[in-house]
Amino acid sequence: MKTYLGLIAAVALTLTACGGGESKPAESTPPAPSTPAVASVPATPEPASAATSEPVVASAVETSTPAAAGECSAIINSNDAMQFDVKEIAIKSSCQQYTITLKHTGQMKKEAMGHNIVISKAADKDAVVSDGVKANVESGYVKPNDERIVAQTNLIGGGEETSVTFDVAKLAKGEAYEYFCTFPGHATQMSGKITIVE
Ligand code: CO
Repeated sequence: MKTYLGLIAAVALTLTACGGGESKPAESTPPAPSTPAVASVPATPEPASAATSEPVVASAVETSTPAAAGECSAIINSNDAMQFDVKEIAIKSSCQQYTITLKHTGQMKKEAMGHNIVISKAADKDAVVSDGVKANVESGYVKPNDERIVAQTNLIGGGEETSVTFDVAKLAKGEAYEYFCTFPGHATQMSGKITIVE
């Protein structure tokens, strides 16, 4: 590299020298060695996302098995058909913290088909949901500072993703917990169980 720069400098000097009185900058030899490298990078053939909604819905219905992600994390997909693709999350008690990532694979805006993940005791679910419905879309259909809520994500629309990480110690062993979407009308269908396992 040093040699290369030296060469450039030499060329520049030569050009300046040849230019006589004119102080001409050495811009005539722009080194472009990276062109072949750029050309060899294959263009990623991304299929148009417009036509993907149907397969996504189908797979979301089929895969109602426990979340497959890291030991202490889960990924839940949601869609324009008001569905979560995971119906139960088993959290290992050895996890200090647990992360739930929510993906909205649909295309509708959050004002029309918003989804979130809210966790509470199963016994508190109905009250949390009804208070959430009274809140507006800006507050994510969650009552601010609702102490019954163990953890919550933002409300997202189609194509968006969000996540929440919480202390597993906030979940008492032997207590029944659920996660659900608090968007008006969604909680009955968009809901799942959370259990603590060894
Ligand atoms: Co929802």
